Order: sequence, then C-alpha cells, then structure tokens
Amino acid sequence: MDNSIDRAADRFAERLGVIDKHTLYRPFNCTLRSVRDLTPSEKMFRLAKLEGGPFGHRPGQFMQVSVLGIGEAPISVSSSPTRGDYLELGVRAAGTLTSALHRLKPGDEIGLRGPFGTHFPTDEMKGRDLLLISGGCGLAPMRALIQYVEDRRGDFRKVTILYGAKSPDDVLYKDELRGWRNSKIFECQVTVDRVPGGTCWDANVGMITKLIPPLQIRPDDTTAVIVGPPIMYKFVIEELCAKGLNAGNIVVSLERHMKCGVGKCGHCTIDHLYCCIDGPVFRLDQVANLKGAI
Ligand SMILES: Cc1cc2nc3c(=O)[nH]c(=O)nc-3n(C[C@H](O)[C@H](O)[C@H](O)COP(=O)(O)OP(=O)(O)OC[C@H]3O[C@@H](n4cnc5c(N)ncnc54)[C@H](O)[C@@H]3O)c2cc1C
Ligand code: FES
Repeated sequence: MDNSIDRAADRFAERLGVIDKHTLYRPFNCTLRSVRDLTPSEKMFRLAKLEGGPFGHRPGQFMQVSVLGIGEAPISVSSSPTRGDYLELGVRAAGTLTSALHRLKPGDEIGLRGPFGTHFPTDEMKGRDLLLISGGCGLAPMRALIQYVEDRRGDFRKVTILYGAKSPDDVLYKDELRGWRNSKIFECQVTVDRVPGGTCWDANVGMITKLIPPLQIRPDDTTAVIVGPPIMYKFVIEELCAKGLNAGNIVVSLERHMKCGVGKCGHCTIDHLYCCIDGPVFRLDQVANLKGAI
C-alpha cells in the first residue's frame, strides 16, 4: 500500500481525535428501531446504538453500514444530531448490501462504522441566506441539514429549499416536504420531471433548474448547497453562476464508489483528493477545476 495512502488514514484518525486507529475499521452494533417505506424502492431506517448515546455526526457525513455475512456500503446520515440519540438512513435498494438492508425488520442488528467524511459548513453558514437544492436520493443527506437549520432557525436568514424528482412516485420524505412547503420559516418548492396520467400532483412540473431563475437571490450573502445525481450539478451550477453566485459560496456533496471510507484503499479518488476524507462535502472552488469532479 502506498505510504501516502497510509498517511492519509493517519491524518484522518488524528483529525477525528481517534487514539486507536483500529476503531476506524471495526463496526459497532446498532439496533434497527423502525423501518418506513418512502417510495417503492426506498426505505428509511432508524437506528440506535446498543448501549445508547449519540452517534456524534454532523449533517453531510456518512456511515459505513454493514449486514453480517453480506458486506458494507457508505450511506449518508439523513437525520440531524439535534433530533436525539438516533440515526436515520434513507436507502435505495441498489444492490447487494442495500437489498439486504431492505429485508431487515425492527429489532435486527446492523453494523456501523463512522461517522466519516466532511460535513456541511454550518458554522460558516450562520447569518447567511441558504439555498438548499437537492435531487432524487440527494434529499437524504439534505434532510439532515434541513432538520438542523429548522432546529437552529435563528442562526440563519432566508432559507429556500428546492427539490426535484423524476415523478411523484419518486418523491422522498413526502410528509416532511409538505410540512416545509406549508411552513412559514422556509420557502420550499418541489418539482417532478413528469406526471403520469391519472396521478395527483399539486406542485411544479419540469427540471429543477427552472426553479432558480425566478428566485430573488443576494449572491454575496447566500450559500447554496447542492446534493443530487451527477447530471444535476453542471446545470444547477450554471444557473447559480447566472444569478451571480461565485464558486466560494457554492457547496457540493459528491458521490464516488468507496470501500474503506477512511482514506486507505484509494477507491474514491477525485484527482489528488479522497472523496471519503476530503469530502464528500466540498466547496465548489476546491473541486471545480479537477478533472471528472463535477
Ligand atoms: C458518501 C456516500 C453516501 C451515500 N449515501 C447514500 C444514501 O444515503 N442512500 C443510498 O441509497 N445510497 C447512498 N450511497 C450510494 C450507495 O453507497 C451505493 O449505491 C452502494 O453501491 C450500495 O451498495 P450495494 O452493495 O447495495 O450495491 P452494489 O452491489 O455495490 O451495487 C450498486 C450499483 O453500483 C454498481 N457498482 C458496484 N461497484 C461498482 C464499482 N466499483 N464501479 C462502478 N459501479 C459499481 C453496481 O453494478 C450496481 O449498479 C452513498 C454513496 C456514497 C459514496
Ligand atoms: S480511500 Fe478508501 S474509500 Fe476513500
């Protein structure tokens, strides 16, 4: 293994204040408290530590989630630490591990490592307008940030939430979105690409990018956060730049295939950066010029 990779893992352990580096690799057991269907292919899992206590995460971080005998995959935390000593994960059944998760029942055990990765810069976002833009499964990590902002609403100025999904059936966290749309503390708009015949839908139709031009944005006082499928970033960033936002005021969360999650295996590199420890949350000016980042 390349020495620089070893050093990256050491730096990461230091940054987390981990004394015994092996705890980064050893899963701890959690109980599955409840499971809720979000869409036909996505479920939400609420977990608690066997011995109780907080998970110590910040919005934007991820966990390495394992099911005994099956494997492990990185999943973003979908709940804010301000909500209590539990952790929620919004998971799409995409392959081996996530399908095994979908078969679990309340009371079953799940292994977790983490929390890992960088988080949304909530301290730097204080006193600013926030524009929180997510698409598809990107609402899972964004929900952790929205809950955090809701619980510390006085710390932030105007908060606008934009969310896009393929169709009404694909919309995640429908009840909460309804609450945010009706809430006086957020401006929230939802859109879907298409509405199949016979489906009830009371929000926008069209790409998420169409929601940006009509917004009143104070570019120097706004932090925009984007989480979504890869195709979304380029077009959303173009619209934000047209509104006068510069790359220093745009935050993105990027997804790469990961194995170790701690800067050791090199699976998740973006140029010279490791998505697992330098990200997944980056300021756009950190990655805008890196090949293949956006
Ligand atoms: C930081 C981060 C946060 C994430 N958060 C979430 C989340 O909140 N919710 C969620 O549902 N998902 C999330 N994901 C995605 C999730 O980790 C992946 O979908 C993961 O592959 C699922 O594991 P699996 O074993 O179920 O699927 P796999 O069996 O790994 O298969 C999933 C898909 O990936 C393909 N694939 C597998 N390995 C590779 C590879 N090396 N190169 C290219 N393609 C490959 C497979 O062909 C298949 O189409 C996140 C990923 C990252 C990196
Ligand atoms: S270095 Fe192993 S997942 Fe990032």
